[in-house]
Amino acid sequence: MEQSFPKQIQRLQEEIIKLKEKEDIFLMAHYYQRPEIQAIADVLGDSLGLSRIAQQKAKSDIIIFAGVTFMAETASILNPNKTVYIPDKAAKCPMAAMCPAKAVQSLKAQYDLPVVLYVNTLAEAKAHADIMCTSANAVEICRSLNSDSIIFGPDWNLGWHVNWKSGLEIIPVPEHGYCYVHKKFEVEDFLKLKKQYPKALITVHPECNPEVQKMADHVGSTAGIKKFIKNSDASDFIIGTEIGLGFAIHQETAGQKRLHFARDDAICQAMKCITLEKIREILIKFPKENVIKVPEEIANAARKGIVKMLELS
Ligand code: 13P
Ligand code: SF4
Repeated sequence: MEQSFPKQIQRLQEEIIKLKEKEDIFLMAHYYQRPEIQAIADVLGDSLGLSRIAQQKAKSDIIIFAGVTFMAETASILNPNKTVYIPDKAAKCPMAAMCPAKAVQSLKAQYDLPVVLYVNTLAEAKAHADIMCTSANAVEICRSLNSDSIIFGPDWNLGWHVNWKSGLEIIPVPEHGYCYVHKKFEVEDFLKLKKQYPKALITVHPECNPEVQKMADHVGSTAGIKKFIKNSDASDFIIGTEIGLGFAIHQETAGQKRLHFARDDAICQAMKCITLEKIREILIKFPKENVIKVPEEIANAARKGIVKMLELS
């Protein structure tokens, strides 16, 4: 379903498309980006999909990453010879900052166990992990390590999800890392909508609290939620994730599915600080201060765990 944007936005979109074609620039965007950005991105995806695309298909020498800084860092780590720009360096996932490298190092010293870190981490922390995971492959990655216990972080709820699905013991790092957007969802939010739409299926992200995951018909990454809705025969869905995902689902299902987001305040401020105006600014000025570059030693150490994850999933 084509969404039409106001004239002023359309003009900005056309200008960006022309500029990026002229300069051969690859625009990558996460599903939580503003609809007007998703609509003109060269690729759209969840964290796993975007890492894979950054590794295999980012043909241009310059990438503009419309997402949060850890995602742009991952793209840069996987493409050390390309220049990766983020339209606003303030687009930082607060959960990534909850897991300093020191916390990982000290748990590693305490336990002789594999360390799995969610990609939502700083590159310095990634450098101390054995392997990375995303919300799409966390269970599969943890299972692959042949260990009954795993040091896992920073999202406590995703760690709970891994334990729920695999029975593996999770040693969390930090103690209680969380995503403030997904933590907002409460069972009541879903029950209220379920009364209104009794036939609706509930689908939620694994960063939601355990009680919310347990009551859902499906738990998955953003791409997983989209796929579940697309492939289901049901018409109504109650969704527990950031509201930006609605745009991509409507596009892919030609508006045939009715989406009911469980909370309309499930908005990630870091994702939303990227705007069309800021993307245009990059395409005109290519400001050095917007380049994402991880120091070589850290990038080399972090790359091992990211590549291992991509090989396994
Ligand atoms: P995905 O792994 O589903 O893309 O989610 C990333 C994220 O930041 C969730 O809050
Ligand atoms: Fe981070 Fe949550 Fe935003 Fe995802 S939605 S980027 S985990 S704050």
